Amino acid sequence: MADSHAATPTLSKLDQLAAKNQEALLGGGQARIDAQHKKGKLTARERLDLLLDEGSFEEIGKFVMHRSKDFGLDKEYYLGDGVVTGYGTVHGRLVYVFSQDFTVFGGSLSETHAEKIVKIMDLAMKNGAPVIGLNDSGGARIQEGVVSLGGYADIFYKNTLASGVVPQLSAIMGPCAGGAVYSPAITDFILMVENTSYMFVTGPNVVKTVTHENVTSEELGGASTHSAKSGVTHFTAANEVVCIQQLKQLLSYMPQNCEETAPSLPYQPQADESRPVLDGIVPDNANQPYDIREVIEGIIDSGSFMEVHQNFAENIVVGFARLAGRSIGIVGNQPAVLAGVLDINASTKAARFVRFCDSFNIPLLVLEDVPGFLPGTDQEWRGIITNGAKLLYAFCEATVPRITVITRKAYGGAYDVMNSKHIGADLNFAWPTAEIAVMGAKGAAEIIFKREIAQADDPEAKLQEKVDDYQQKFATPYRAAHRGFVDEVILPSQTRQKLIRAFKMLENKVDTLPRKKHGNIPL
Ligand code: HXC
Repeated sequence: MADSHAATPTLSKLDQLAAKNQEALLGGGQARIDAQHKKGKLTARERLDLLLDEGSFEEIGKFVMHRSKDFGLDKEYYLGDGVVTGYGTVHGRLVYVFSQDFTVFGGSLSETHAEKIVKIMDLAMKNGAPVIGLNDSGGARIQEGVVSLGGYADIFYKNTLASGVVPQLSAIMGPCAGGAVYSPAITDFILMVENTSYMFVTGPNVVKTVTHENVTSEELGGASTHSAKSGVTHFTAANEVVCIQQLKQLLSYMPQNCEETAPSLPYQPQADESRPVLDGIVPDNANQPYDIREVIEGIIDSGSFMEVHQNFAENIVVGFARLAGRSIGIVGNQPAVLAGVLDINASTKAARFVRFCDSFNIPLLVLEDVPGFLPGTDQEWRGIITNGAKLLYAFCEATVPRITVITRKAYGGAYDVMNSKHIGADLNFAWPTAEIAVMGAKGAAEIIFKREIAQADDPEAKLQEKVDDYQQKFATPYRAAHRGFVDEVILPSQTRQKLIRAFKMLENKVDTLPRKKHGNIPL
């Protein structure tokens, strides 16, 4: 124990530390904090308080300052330099975090700000835990010039090296312009807050100069634009609190890194897992739509579905769920939108999701009801061939447990693409309502019996006769089942039970790809 005489100088040093800590907490100062609040935004530290388990945050680099001298920066320093970095826990699991502080030079990225982010990414990769970025930044620190651009490039490089090693999640909680959008774009998931966040490469002023378009920030790069039009963001939230809740929920479906599996929730097996509601979902008329989400809800643990990209390419539904407590990824054609057809956006949306699940050992369930790829000049000219091939490639490459349930249509190339046995699915179930064929019966009859129909006394009756014939022979699951392309035709109500057992059976699956540097997915 120190005596009081010796303690005086020590105490003043302790006070100095306390003062510095206090100064760091204030970021760019109270006036700017008030301005941030006035915009309906939280501060960088308030966001971390909401995200991390209480008392778990440990800060790294709290006293870092920039090294710039130009344009008056030699007179303006803030401890931390516009980003709060460190580690903590979310529901008891380790995560690394950075939270940009808009009150310091608008959260803009300096050389030292970048170094802080890179430091925690290095730690995350070495220790195998997710990185969560809370982004609120005016882009490159303009006063620093190329040094700041270098800092961005360092982050992009780390994001890319970390991709597939640890999950990387980006919440956009303010303006993100220029370089500030590319780091989130390389990460696995983006979440945006409605009305207070936007992302664009160049803002409305530059757009007006270059293309003469008049557009607001919100129209150009707000949450609704990026969730429905561009597909850049995977989730939107009404406010920052909801956004942070979404981040936490999303994390719960993921493992810490690519060597682990996602945590399971405790599950008490039931004697009877049948779900009679599933028997009544697919309509008798094959052209009548239904909502694939009803099928999903009927199969999974109640209320466990977290849909990804809900407003983008709605003809396919993707998301995380739990089955008997275990985390799974679901890809389902959506017959209620464009009859569930595969187009460019649906293919890229699902391909990216499949690749995420495969990177992080999350088993895949595919629910198939697809009439084929969308025909037409628009799709062909914009490259449905290359883009559809992305989904094909993603499934072919996936080595996680993969199961398909064909609920109704499995037509043409889409039959192959949607996780067929031929491209590596482990099990393929079909409902009795399944129709597995090259195309729909009417289209098929019109092509192969064209001459016979034209020459008939009553062409319409002839066409119907041929359609009925084709329908009976091919518009069923049984041809495929005879071949073993379908492993079992099951009652819809038994689907949950079958899948629980099947995924359990596949729990220890080991599969590898041929040795290579990396594949060349058709980008
Ligand atoms: C330095 C910046 C800054 C920046 C904002 N500030 N952006 N300081 N570098 N990039 C400062 C402002 O001077 C101000 O300081 C404070 O942050 C808040 O900014 P305001 O403009 O008052 O706030 P607001 O009206 O909300 O507008 C926010 C904004 C706007 C939309 C972000 O500031 C803006 O357009 N900034 C520039 C965006 C941009 O062009 N960035 C460069 C992109 S190029 P005071 O002292 O008043 O608080 C880029 C290249 C990388 O990033 C490419 C890599 C691929």
